[in-house]
Amino acid sequence: MEYRPITSDDFDGYVGVLAHVFAWDPKPEEIDVERKATEFDRTIAAFDDGAVVGTGANITFEMTVPGGTARAGGVTAIGVLPSHRRGGVLTQMMGRLLDDSREHEEPLSVLWASESSIYGRYGFGMANRLATREIERAHVTFIDTKPSPGRVRLIEKDEALERLPAVLDQVVDRYPGMIRRSPLKWEVDLSDLEAWRGGATANRFALYEEGGVGLGYARYRVKEEWKEGHPQNTLLANEVIGVNDDATLGMWRFLFGIDLTKTVKARVRPLRDPLAYFLTDPRRLSFKVTEGIWVRILDVRVALEARRYPVEGAITIEITGPDDVAGVYRIEGGPDGASCRRTDGEPDLRMGVTQLGMRYLGDHDFATLAAAGLVEGDRDALQRADLMFGWHEPTWCVVGF
Ligand SMILES: CC(C)(COP(=O)(O)OP(=O)(O)OC[C@H]1O[C@@H](n2cnc3c(N)ncnc32)[C@H](O)[C@@H]1OP(=O)(O)O)[C@@H](O)C(=O)NCCC(=O)NCCS
Repeated sequence: MEYRPITSDDFDGYVGVLAHVFAWDPKPEEIDVERKATEFDRTIAAFDDGAVVGTGANITFEMTVPGGTARAGGVTAIGVLPSHRRGGVLTQMMGRLLDDSREHEEPLSVLWASESSIYGRYGFGMANRLATREIERAHVTFIDTKPSPGRVRLIEKDEALERLPAVLDQVVDRYPGMIRRSPLKWEVDLSDLEAWRGGATANRFALYEEGGVGLGYARYRVKEEWKEGHPQNTLLANEVIGVNDDATLGMWRFLFGIDLTKTVKARVRPLRDPLAYFLTDPRRLSFKVTEGIWVRILDVRVALEARRYPVEGAITIEITGPDDVAGVYRIEGGPDGASCRRTDGEPDLRMGVTQLGMRYLGDHDFATLAAAGLVEGDRDALQRADLMFGWHEPTWCVVGF
């Protein structure tokens, strides 16, 4: 088996593997988008007798972490043909993708997982839980009945490409886990290929403005359905952003006001979301926890110094593995900055880098991980560490890859 990045000539074979493993029959325009999104020098492929049988790639990102940002390699396009599965091909490719991130001085490797059983073994931790919320429109009444100060305007894709980035950019720094889309990523994500619609309409875009300034937007689709003469449409709210409370409320008011809609389904929401608090009958809004981004910490010192800590404190953590990051680290941090260094001292807590990755963005807590046997330490150390590693904003990410 040979492992190397792909060239343009290998692209058909690379897409062929992805098509096979993701049960996907790509149309030419889908292959064009995939090509556009691919950083060829950051790909990896497994070749058996010259034919591509396994694929993977990194994308260059900067990710928000609590109180700061960190460079991150976004792992994507992972696939191994069923004829070659469970022969260690992914393990070989993953080793190379993580090396590629180290060469690019990325302290983090991040990904969205197709299954939660795959990536823990490589040191990735599920770091960013999200939610799907659903409600029947008939049950929606807002507590605040005053009209919003702004107005909502429907816009077309070209205007969305011009106006939405400035809105999203205003909230990216607020939520750990958020990724700033590059202009190319915006173009790719708004390509809106028919295959991505799942039987619903093309993307609709609504922009919330005050005095002509964009402060919120919604990207949504509608799945049409009629039953015995009654409209039963489902509105799929795939990206709803508000820079401030008025914009967020204004955006939801708009979405819940769309006629012929029976159900509104909001995906990729943060766990702590003002949406429920806007409603008079919040129990009607269902709450399903989903997975967001997984984090693999590749450079413990750089990663822990990149974030801020809400309270001043110090904690010594032994990372038990994998080998590249194993060791004892002393972290001293607070709201203004942090330092992290290796030490020979006695650790307060002991855990794998997977658990540090889970807690890194502020989600989860060490005490519960300890109760599950995944972190070792006494109650006092767990409490101190949890106070340090929490964050006042929820983790969130609306950018898929
Ligand atoms: C997931 C996938 C890439 C794994 O590739 P692979 O080459 O079979 O993986 P490896 O042989 O390197 O497996 C390494 C280890 O992970 C385990 N593993 C791999 N895939 C797994 C899965 N889906 N669920 C549970 N365990 C898995 C293997 O059993 C093996 O364990 P071991 O070291 O204890 O023997 C492959 O099954 C695939 O293409 N799946 C469909 C596409 C997909 O889900 N891609 C991921 C997108 S995020």
